[in-house]
Amino acid sequence: MEYLYQAGKPNGKKFILLHGTGGDETSLIELAKFLDADSTILSFRGTIEEEGMNRFFKRNGLNQFDFESLEKETDHLLEAINEISAEKAIALEDWILVGYSNGANIAAHMLLERETALAEGIFFHPMSLEVHTQSFNLSDKRIWVSYGGAKDPIVSDDSFAELVAAFRDRSGEVTVVETNYGHQLTMDEVQSAREWLKG
Ligand code: MLT
Repeated sequence: MEYLYQAGKPNGKKFILLHGTGGDETSLIELAKFLDADSTILSFRGTIEEEGMNRFFKRNGLNQFDFESLEKETDHLLEAINEISAEKAIALEDWILVGYSNGANIAAHMLLERETALAEGIFFHPMSLEVHTQSFNLSDKRIWVSYGGAKDPIVSDDSFAELVAAFRDRSGEVTVVETNYGHQLTMDEVQSAREWLKG
């Protein structure tokens, strides 16, 4: 997978960045530096191209997910994270997954459906992909998730609630922030994620 790696200061957070549909490995850099100016960054580019837009897994229309692609790309992404982490001598549990929209969706799916030491996530505007094949305990996982409210044309109330329940039902720790500004990122929520990171 294409990725960008930037070493930060030793005491900085370690972020894995996963962009939304149409983004690339540079899209969330500024956001990551706002979350922690000293951070180390590993930022991926989604391998799927949809009408010139990068994504992390295929779909056949809005929210019509290609589940074969989802599973295959989740494995690819985890493999790449494992390899790069070993190469850079960074423990998996030290990373914080930071994703927006499509990138948040694959990251949340990875924590729910793959047994991994990756444990923390900041997911902006994720939704449930409605895949629930695993039941292993998630008590080592700690995630912060934001929801754009009724004005979000992509993430429904039910879908967001299903995602939160999927983590909580398996003992994952979930912090929820609602913005009411639809699918777009707001400064308020980014600030709230920054506060959460300090906790
Ligand atoms: C997805 O396809 O993962 C979601 O609809 C979010 C997005 O549009 O990227």
